[in-house]
Amino acid sequence: MCGIVGYTGLGLLEGGADGTPAATRHPLEVTLEGLRRLEYRGYDSAGVALAGPGQDHIAFAKKSGKLSNLVGELEEHPLPAATAAIGHTRWATHGGPTDTNAHPHLAADGKLAVIHNGIIENFAQLKAELVDAGVTFRSETDTEVAAQLLAQQYAQTKNLTEAMAVTARRLEGTFTLLAVHADDPLTVVGARHDSPLVVGLGEGENFLGSDVAAFIAFTKEALELGQDQIVTITPTSVAVSDFQGNPADAKRFTVDWDAAAAEKSGFDSFMDKEIHDQPHAVADTLLGRTDLDGRLTLDEIHIDEAVLRAVDKIIVIACGTAAYAGHVAKYAIEHWCRIPVEVELSHEFRYRDPIVNEKTLVVAVSQSGETMDTLMAVRHAREQGAKVLSIVNTRGSTIPRESDAVLYTHAGPEIAVASTKAFLSQITAAYLLGLYLAQLRGNKFPDEIAALLNELRDLPAKVQTVIERGEYVRATARSMKDATSVLFLGRHVGYPVALEGALKLKELAYIHAEGFAAGELKHGPIALIDEGQPVFVVVPSPQARHGLHSKVVSNIQEIRARGARTLVIAEDGDDEVRKYADEIFWIPKAPSLLQPLLAVVPLQIFAMALATAKGLDVDQPRNLAKSVTVE
Ligand code: G6P
Repeated sequence: MCGIVGYTGLGLLEGGADGTPAATRHPLEVTLEGLRRLEYRGYDSAGVALAGPGQDHIAFAKKSGKLSNLVGELEEHPLPAATAAIGHTRWATHGGPTDTNAHPHLAADGKLAVIHNGIIENFAQLKAELVDAGVTFRSETDTEVAAQLLAQQYAQTKNLTEAMAVTARRLEGTFTLLAVHADDPLTVVGARHDSPLVVGLGEGENFLGSDVAAFIAFTKEALELGQDQIVTITPTSVAVSDFQGNPADAKRFTVDWDAAAAEKSGFDSFMDKEIHDQPHAVADTLLGRTDLDGRLTLDEIHIDEAVLRAVDKIIVIACGTAAYAGHVAKYAIEHWCRIPVEVELSHEFRYRDPIVNEKTLVVAVSQSGETMDTLMAVRHAREQGAKVLSIVNTRGSTIPRESDAVLYTHAGPEIAVASTKAFLSQITAAYLLGLYLAQLRGNKFPDEIAALLNELRDLPAKVQTVIERGEYVRATARSMKDATSVLFLGRHVGYPVALEGALKLKELAYIHAEGFAAGELKHGPIALIDEGQPVFVVVPSPQARHGLHSKVVSNIQEIRARGARTLVIAEDGDDEVRKYADEIFWIPKAPSLLQPLLAVVPLQIFAMALATAKGLDVDQPRNLAKSVTVE
């Protein structure tokens, strides 16, 4: 939620007065490029602030609406060249998405600018104090309180880093703040508390960003900041301290994403590209996880093996699509490891006093690694003595840093707000975890685990096949662009797939969509079925255990008899179901537990194509943000 970029470079100083290598980039361009890559975090408004030598005021521009509005404004009214810049793309919390409420917020003297991600909870009290002291406010935002407070502190200390530390100590809530001051045009200062901030390290230039996507076009060397830290960057230095001003450590890492991976690469949308990335996302998540004997070696899991052997319950916590990935994994982990698995939305887990102890393994699933609801649930679980293992896609993010262990998915950057490739890679990683536990606890023989791993390794090619069959799904979606309600049914692992299919359609096409467990149909939802009601049905493989296939085929007949238009996802060669399907989307054969990785793909394509046919922006759906860093 909200994207933040900071940059300082010697470009303008032509060679660097002190002989250090000069960056040739323009701070404004770097900042806009970073914002372009972070726009998925919020797109209610955007703004930039620049500081440059010889300028006694901060130059700034801000505009409501998407980043393109700001770019248009900057073309019409260019800003002077600068050495330091900060930029912001907003997901509104306090104060509507207007030009005035857009960030940056400036101090009354126009010399200091601040941008912010998060919510300052004690803003009303601080604002009252500042108003009493004679400060006039221009916006309705909580951020302006931080700007005014910082200006007040700066007036006393004349040192932006110290002023930031004092300000940070006074703020409650969640925040990443970045500030620039006209008197110190080579410096950007940042502070973080429960909101993300990473540093990008360059030569004669340094970067700040909400995540590494902000600067991967320029550098892959990065620093992971800790909780409650202040960072001060100049073109040639990075200094980290705590809120008391004591020097602090930050962990260096190299980003393994490639800048091109964050581009559309010829696709119409990031979502389309990310759907096409899925075979790689699965393959890369599986890569390098076995030793020469074929045994699973999840080296990143630094939890004592004895502790893992003693685990008597797993609780998966996550939100949105990640929670559905966890729901799929529950079936596999319980089946392979015979450990009870609960799946719970992070925000519900946190507030229901869950029964958790040192024998509980909590698995936190998150693409961004920043979802505040999940982070809070992680903290709560650890306070109760549980071990937390996170399954995360984004390096340098907060959830892995606060977990006992992390299993990274290697999906590459996911930019479209609605999640696609992260879902497949999260299921893959959770399956690896399940097999690892089964290996460790002796629930499965090595050859059984090797066979399951081989089946997983066959999946990328099968996902590719489903993608190649996508045109029929797209055509069907286009023909349904006026639909007002679509239902989704599934059983067993097909149930969370149905939930995910419905979520994709809600998120992208703003259509009423609901997913149900097919067996639950007769207990209520069947009353929704009317003449022509479109219903997607995820059909299990005819080989599935417990006669699941025939039960779902009966469900299809029940809804068809009541007028439903049935859109069926079925395994190649399933002749039985063909008779009852108005439309059929074939997927390659796969073991039941692996079917979700294939069955969800037509549903992703359907939602994307239908939204596109309605003329909607599939990468940036209304009201949403990708990384939800407020509770
Ligand atoms: C938001 C996004 C969803 C995402 C969910 C969890 O709601 O819009 O696409 O599934 O957050 O995000 P995470 O980064 O924790 O996987």
